[in-house]
Amino acid sequence: MNQFPNLLSEADELLPEAIRLRRDLHAHPELGLDLPRTQAAVLAAINGLGLNVTTGKSLSSVVAILDSGRPGPTVLLRGDMDALPMPEDTGLEFASSVEGVMHACGHDAHVAMLVGAAHLLRAHDDELRGRVVFMFQPGEEGDHGARFMIDEGVLEAAGPVDMAFAIHQSPSLPNGMVFTKGGTLLASADEIFIDVKGRGGHASMPYQTIDPIPVACEIVLAIQSMVTRKVDVFDPAVVTIAHVTAGTTSNVIPEVAHIHGTVRTVSARTRQLIQDELERLVTGIGDAHGALATLRVLPGFPVTVNDEAAAEWTVSVAVDLLGADQVLEMPTPVMGAEDFSYVLENVPGAMVFLGTCPDDAEFTTAAPNHSNRMVLNETAMAKGIALYAAIALARSSQ
Ligand code: NI
Repeated sequence: MNQFPNLLSEADELLPEAIRLRRDLHAHPELGLDLPRTQAAVLAAINGLGLNVTTGKSLSSVVAILDSGRPGPTVLLRGDMDALPMPEDTGLEFASSVEGVMHACGHDAHVAMLVGAAHLLRAHDDELRGRVVFMFQPGEEGDHGARFMIDEGVLEAAGPVDMAFAIHQSPSLPNGMVFTKGGTLLASADEIFIDVKGRGGHASMPYQTIDPIPVACEIVLAIQSMVTRKVDVFDPAVVTIAHVTAGTTSNVIPEVAHIHGTVRTVSARTRQLIQDELERLVTGIGDAHGALATLRVLPGFPVTVNDEAAAEWTVSVAVDLLGADQVLEMPTPVMGAEDFSYVLENVPGAMVFLGTCPDDAEFTTAAPNHSNRMVLNETAMAKGIALYAAIALARSSQ
């Protein structure tokens, strides 16, 4: 039974305005935690809806609350707002007007969909109980914006959050389809820096030095052996050393070698295991050769974990709204990372992917997120608007 018979057609009516807003943001992308123009566009777009609006202190976030005035649950809907530091080569008429900055992850569409959902839910506020928190978040691309918003109280802004929900668009999925899974959805991503300090000297007399280069090579190979011997294959990890530097010329043994890489895991347990094993391995191999090898871990986003019950319920709402053939449960997590993980560490909820493959492309070969040629299908935004609203309305009627 469809409990939302009109939501999709009402969202379709909101699509032209969503497209206008999305294209405006697309042409004027901003980076990181400070997005003044994007913030102003959001404030203008939700002006007049009677929402209780506050803006961030340490970042240009917007928190807007729709309060039904009736007791009921608090549902948080999140849309991220920031772009990427890269050139755009889409040839779109509304392509970026800012050199070296592009909305290549579709966060412009996320903002437009969340604004659309605020309008749609306002039109349905007589059916709503409790409160809806619209979380417009800067700094998703590595800047931990969600964590800053949590520090500034977004999860208590309208009382404890009962359900948090987010959508991420992807041109690598069929247009208009929704994908998610219970449990781990996305990986953690930590950066590692290893310094190997030896003693420099003449390349012809290595016995007078402590050559850091073979020590560094040994560490790089030992890391790969460690991953295969210490990590449960059903709780996997990827450690990639992508950047190694040492030395200046052929006849000088340098004092130091540097190793730089990324660690991806899909559980907090393996994330910690890798850090502990790396620490032991790096210092141990350094010691074995009389060098001083040190590890520094720069923590990135934690694992994004959908609450099992919330994900299952989200799938049922999406099926009800869009039809069973438009919703797919994913067999495995994706090794990308997402800072909605911070929200899901604190409150139950779920994140989904919305397919936005362009009509003239194949989803298997369409330019993906973070490509300089990424183009998304704007028609899918109507489904995103309707899905945000359906989640809030369905939760409110429970
Ligand atoms: Ni993104």
